[in-house]
Amino acid sequence: MSEVTCIWQIQALLGEGPLWVAAEKALYWVDILNRQVHRLEPASGQKRSWTFAESITSLALRESGGFVGTVPHGFVAIDLKAGTIDPIVTVETDLPNNRFNDGKVDSNGRFWAGTMDKQEKEATGTLYRLDPDLSLHVMDQDYIITNGPAFSVDGKTMYHNDSIKGLVYAFDLQDDGMLGGKRPFQQLTFAINGAPDGMTVDSENCLWLAHYGGARLTRFAPTGEILEEVSLPVPNVTSCTFGGPDLDTLYITTASQNMSAAELEKHPLSGSLFAYKPGVKGLPTPHFAG
Ligand code: BGC
Ligand code: CA
Repeated sequence: MSEVTCIWQIQALLGEGPLWVAAEKALYWVDILNRQVHRLEPASGQKRSWTFAESITSLALRESGGFVGTVPHGFVAIDLKAGTIDPIVTVETDLPNNRFNDGKVDSNGRFWAGTMDKQEKEATGTLYRLDPDLSLHVMDQDYIITNGPAFSVDGKTMYHNDSIKGLVYAFDLQDDGMLGGKRPFQQLTFAINGAPDGMTVDSENCLWLAHYGGARLTRFAPTGEILEEVSLPVPNVTSCTFGGPDLDTLYITTASQNMSAAELEKHPLSGSLFAYKPGVKGLPTPHFAG
């Protein structure tokens, strides 16, 4: 498979958060706006979906069992078998126009997730860090849409973006979880590149970025140089992660929200799940240590 392949044809409104669960050889992903979690076993093609009363916007495995994730206003423990969502910590109840968006675990087992303005206009979004002892830390502010936490191979650089500002930032991530040295890593122009969305780092320390409205993934060297561009047959590419038994497959989520009937007719696979073998492997997904 050196071509981008549609592996689950579905019109997700906002496919996001792909997560490879190695022990199950399964890919989990969410549809934020349809309040669903999807699961696919690529080897057998077996699929399953859950619908909840509120959106799960990101997911990660927990060392202590089940999943940790985010809902619009907090961090939660999720038990998919039981179909339950239990609050861990609630945030921003004074900001009804905000909701959580993307989240990811770092190599020290801490869960990073951020909020966004649902109208995509005001810089009311915050990046949080949930530690294994379940303490919550405000790590950065002034985002319109937080997206795509990703970590370098040595765990010392964190990438995180503001999709609406078109900025992918790099930070120095210290062992104690503190961030320093915030700097622009990429500045994208929407009309040319779309908006920077989900990201993942491969085993050669290069960054894969999903372009929302830009119909592609880009692979960047740590220097910022563009190494590869992979086109998708849909405009809104939201996130990607490595998976498969050999971690050699990129699983790519997409969105169909805000598209006209004519656009959907032109790009009928919008919202579907795609796979691509880029010829480089990914890193195992760390579990939340709490
Ligand atoms: C957000 C969407 C947003 C998109 C484009 C996604 O991560 O969940 O609400 O439209 O990014 O920037
Ligand atoms: Ca995203």
